[in-house]
Amino acid sequence: MVKVTFVSSDGTRREVETAEGETAREAALFNDVPGIDGDCGGVCACATCHVHVDPGWIDTVGRLKEGEAEAELLQFAEGANEYSRLACQIPMEAAMEGLVLHVPAQQY
Ligand code: FES
Repeated sequence: MVKVTFVSSDGTRREVETAEGETAREAALFNDVPGIDGDCGGVCACATCHVHVDPGWIDTVGRLKEGEAEAELLQFAEGANEYSRLACQIPMEAAMEGLVLHVPAQQY
C-alpha cells in the first residue's frame, strides 16, 4: 500500500492508502476525496481529476510532457500551473509513499 495525502483548497488534509498500480484518481475516488470527480473514467478526457503535485514531489511524479494528451487537456483547465497533473495519469508506486497532491480551488 502507498499513502497519499490530498490537500483541499481550504487546507483540509486527507491521508488515504492505495495499492501500487492504482492511480491517484482511484485513490481519491475510493476514499471520497472532494473535488476529484474523474468523470471520464480515467482516460485523460475530462480534466476533472486535475491536481497540483506538491513541489517537493514533482520530480518523483514527473512534469507534464509537452505535446502529450495530458498536457493538451490541461492547457484549458482553470488554475493549471507548472505542478498540474491529471490524477488518472499518476500510477502509484512505492517511491511515492507520502505523496502530497493539492486539489485546485477551481475543482469544487
Ligand atoms: S479522469 Fe478524466 S482526465 Fe482524469
